[in-house]
Amino acid sequence: MDKIKKLIAKKNKSKIVSLTAYSKNIASVLDNYCDIVLVGDSLGSVLYNYKSTQQVTLDMMIEHSKSVRMGIKKALMVVDMPYNTYRNPKEALKNAKKIISKTKCDAVKLEGGKKIYNSIQTLVKNKIPVMGHLGLLPQSDKTFKFKGKKKSERESILKDAKLLERAGVFSIVLECVETSLAKYVTKQINIPTIGIGASNYCDGQILVFDDLIGLNPINARFVKKYANIHKQIKNAVSNYSKEVRKAQFPSKKYSY
Ligand code: KIV
Repeated sequence: MDKIKKLIAKKNKSKIVSLTAYSKNIASVLDNYCDIVLVGDSLGSVLYNYKSTQQVTLDMMIEHSKSVRMGIKKALMVVDMPYNTYRNPKEALKNAKKIISKTKCDAVKLEGGKKIYNSIQTLVKNKIPVMGHLGLLPQSDKTFKFKGKKKSERESILKDAKLLERAGVFSIVLECVETSLAKYVTKQINIPTIGIGASNYCDGQILVFDDLIGLNPINARFVKKYANIHKQIKNAVSNYSKEVRKAQFPSKKYSY
């Protein structure tokens, strides 16, 4: 069974584990634990301090993805298509083909519903596996508030999820979606939902790796910090600095 079919088969059976990676060494650790490794365009804010993911370019995504590819043997590798690279089917196909040929990733992810239906359909018809992304869409959102409070929002997210399934996506990320809506959407479609700030009712979960290890200074409700790597790096660098200043490093052990 190919990787995509295996992933879909997990729905209603076992939870799907996903994380983001932007480089080889991290990807090689995640590969042992994750079903999906996503090269997310969140790298714009996490690594480059951009105000918005709109500044992320196709070339940046390709270079980071080439690095991630070297670290992955088992997991499904998905790459985000950045802002303004899939405004119509022709543009989407040209850029998705470029991403896949240069990075050898398994699939691409696009943000949005009805507006990008034709682009997604074109990619799928051309045998390019596509992951959807609904709820809070960082490439275009203005408020960065969770979705599903308003009836209209709930209706359009549900409608879009069904539409994306019809267009042929193999899975949908639900970002910052109210619990009962995430639960309902997950029940209403036959492909897995992957939640980020979208409750435990999704078929799987994703987090930004730098958030999970406590390296990225973010304080969002949906982020659980499983480590405090910032503190550990600080301690290591502080010790190194002290030892160099006191001429204790390198000692004989570290010299030729
Ligand atoms: O860009 C990203 O990292 C993402 C995940 C947070 C889902 O889209």
